[in-house]
Amino acid sequence: MKTVISQSGIKLELEAAAEYYFDEFFLKHITDETLLTFGDKYVLFELPAMRKPPQVEEAVFELTLKGYKPILAHPERYAYYQEPGFESLEKLKSMGVLFQLNVLSLVGFYSPKVQKFAHQLIKNSWIDWAGSDMHNQRYFEAFTEAIQTSQYQKLCESGNLLNNTLTA
Ligand SMILES: [Fe+2]
Repeated sequence: MKTVISQSGIKLELEAAAEYYFDEFFLKHITDETLLTFGDKYVLFELPAMRKPPQVEEAVFELTLKGYKPILAHPERYAYYQEPGFESLEKLKSMGVLFQLNVLSLVGFYSPKVQKFAHQLIKNSWIDWAGSDMHNQRYFEAFTEAIQTSQYQKLCESGNLLNNTLTA
């Protein structure tokens, strides 16, 4: 894939790693230090949508202890973090977890509640990365729309994004 892209002259840097789902396999990879990373030992992981696993903080502690830099995928999409507001996410933030917004959330692609929480996270300068799902044409159209929103512009101009060349 990398070769195809460079031969076609498209200016795009491609790295393949993983978005780890928080399960026993992920925990085992942490213990064994066999996680796929990108950049400077960044590890992208996601949590279950409806129920927060009790070992999240412990796993994050373990990750950072081993020199990994954990990134939580789409923090705006977890029901249990939306409810009490920022409090419960704050714990992860204080432990050094970076947050990756799914930009599709900005156009209400998932739900109005997710969209609202995404706006709040941007407002509080809590977003460090921007990413997206891209499963089919519908995602592409929403993505095109999302990167034109004022919220996305605000995020790009904030200087907080670690991958600020995503749509440059
Ligand atoms: Fe995900």
